[in-house]
Amino acid sequence: MTLRAEDVSWAAGGVPIVRGVTLRLPEKGVLGLVGPNGSGKSSLLRLLAGLRRGTGGAIYVDGRPIDGIRRSEIARRLALVEQQSTTEVALTAREVVALGRLPQRRVWDAWTDRDEAAVTLALRRTGMTHRASQPWSTLSGGERQRIQIARALAQEPRELLLDEPTNHLDIRHQLDLMRLLPTLGTRIVVALHDLNQASAFCDEIAVMHDGRLVAQGTPAEVLNVALIREVFGVEARIENGPSGPRIAFF
Ligand SMILES: Nc1ncnc2c1ncn2[C@@H]1O[C@H](COP(=O)(O)OP(=O)(O)OP(=O)(O)O)[C@@H](O)[C@H]1O
Ligand SMILES: [Mg+2]
Repeated sequence: MTLRAEDVSWAAGGVPIVRGVTLRLPEKGVLGLVGPNGSGKSSLLRLLAGLRRGTGGAIYVDGRPIDGIRRSEIARRLALVEQQSTTEVALTAREVVALGRLPQRRVWDAWTDRDEAAVTLALRRTGMTHRASQPWSTLSGGERQRIQIARALAQEPRELLLDEPTNHLDIRHQLDLMRLLPTLGTRIVVALHDLNQASAFCDEIAVMHDGRLVAQGTPAEVLNVALIREVFGVEARIENGPSGPRIAFF
């Protein structure tokens, strides 16, 4: 029951973008994916979700290469919330969340109590119940982000891949979301820019630099002054906080 990348590469127009990444998801819990802009985080997430075919290596789902698995089967177990959602649809917030049920149902299936319950729970977990009947197009940026996450939760995935889900969220909703993740009972890969949030809320951190995975381990194992200087090009000081290393930048 695993999702893993084995020496996976991807190039666009001959330019290598993901270079020989071997990544294992922890058995349970939250894996934070960090790295500078353009380091390949979103590209790797798309590869892991089977939305992109690698140019080398492979992604394995329960030991099977993802390229040989039908999209519908992948969608029943894995959800990706992308960095930018461009959906412009005449649906309510609740109807957008309900789209998350599509992979779990056959087209001719009637809408069941179980579908209804999954949508209701997803809205509740993301704190969006009160916006359920509002047109999607009128939601704020942060509310749309939360509805996209609710849609992914309604899918009831075993692996949830989130690309910068705290974008657009105010600090309280960022913290609410980060605290929600470990309670979901799914394996999660979350691309983040805030290293302190990654340290505080992730069981493991994987670091991308220039298309390569340069470190993976617990926050205490991975986050050190030398790595932060090398990968992000900034000077940092690291203290031991109550929930993992705390980083101060200067
Ligand atoms: N389809 C594409 N064609 C050409 N270049 C691409 C394509 N997709 C991504 N890239 C390039 O690959 C690099 C990695 O992009 P990616 O979106 O994976 O980075 P990222 O780590 O998610 O960055 P960010 O933190 O800004 O979201 C970037 O330089 C980007 O311009
Ligand atoms: Mg990205």
